[in-house]
Amino acid sequence: MSISTVAALRELIDAVDLHIGKSRAGIGLILGSGLGGLAQEVTNARRVPYSRLPHLAASTVQGHAGELVAGRWQDHDVLVLAGRVHRYEGHPLDQVVLPVRMLAAMGIHTLIVSNAAGSVHTRLQPGDLMLINDHINFQGQNPLIGPNDERLGPRFPDMTVAYDAELRALARRVAQDQELALQEGIYAAVLGPSYETPAEIRMLAAMGADAVGMSTVPEVIAARHMGVRVLGLSCITNLGAGLGAGTLSHADVGEVAGKATARMVNLLGGIVRALPDQPGQRRLP
Ligand code: HPA
Repeated sequence: MSISTVAALRELIDAVDLHIGKSRAGIGLILGSGLGGLAQEVTNARRVPYSRLPHLAASTVQGHAGELVAGRWQDHDVLVLAGRVHRYEGHPLDQVVLPVRMLAAMGIHTLIVSNAAGSVHTRLQPGDLMLINDHINFQGQNPLIGPNDERLGPRFPDMTVAYDAELRALARRVAQDQELALQEGIYAAVLGPSYETPAEIRMLAAMGADAVGMSTVPEVIAARHMGVRVLGLSCITNLGAGLGAGTLSHADVGEVAGKATARMVNLLGGIVRALPDQPGQRRLP
């Protein structure tokens, strides 16, 4: 970005306020590949495509619509990012995380991120939902590189509990109530866009990862930087390269994610419903 992040956020939020009104949502959601259906359930929805907002990059990936939706869902005011941009599309990471920073600056206290991921061992099978309990940043990059603006967060944010323990406990309780099998594990983020080789999948397993994907980690780092608590959920769409018989394709990933959408939306719905309806508080003066 050619201007500072704070200046960009101010212009961006002014534009969002004009398009959809001043949101007081406390909860933000990022919908990953094939999970966009949730945005249709939002009532009193105000929508604005990223392309209509200053400084936001439009997503180019199929299955990622690229719009901000504000409204009511599960008796809560929510802000939904339907579609995300990825590092592999060519955007620098400060650009990739700008939508998350926008939600944080608009006041959310809780961010729920979802993604599609491959499993790196056969304990996790396609169609499984996985609660992210930690991550490995294998992108070789960090969205906080560069001068730090203390108005956004500290220079060296702690990542000991990046995925909020209370939210994880809540997710487990809701899954149990729904008689839904919820796996748990560590998400490793790689750059992509090529899928991994079988050797890379074996390496990721040896490093302690359970699932691998090309998103989420930069967003979580930016959210934690700004003091937003995070819940992360992966839809396991495929066995990692070399673990199954066939090869990998984005179409297959999208299809499996699409089939899991109903379960994921139910789970997210139960979680959001159980959260206190606490309004957001703007972070940038
Ligand atoms: N690797 C990386 N990213 C992914 C995968 C995978 O196997 N599946 C869905 N996103």
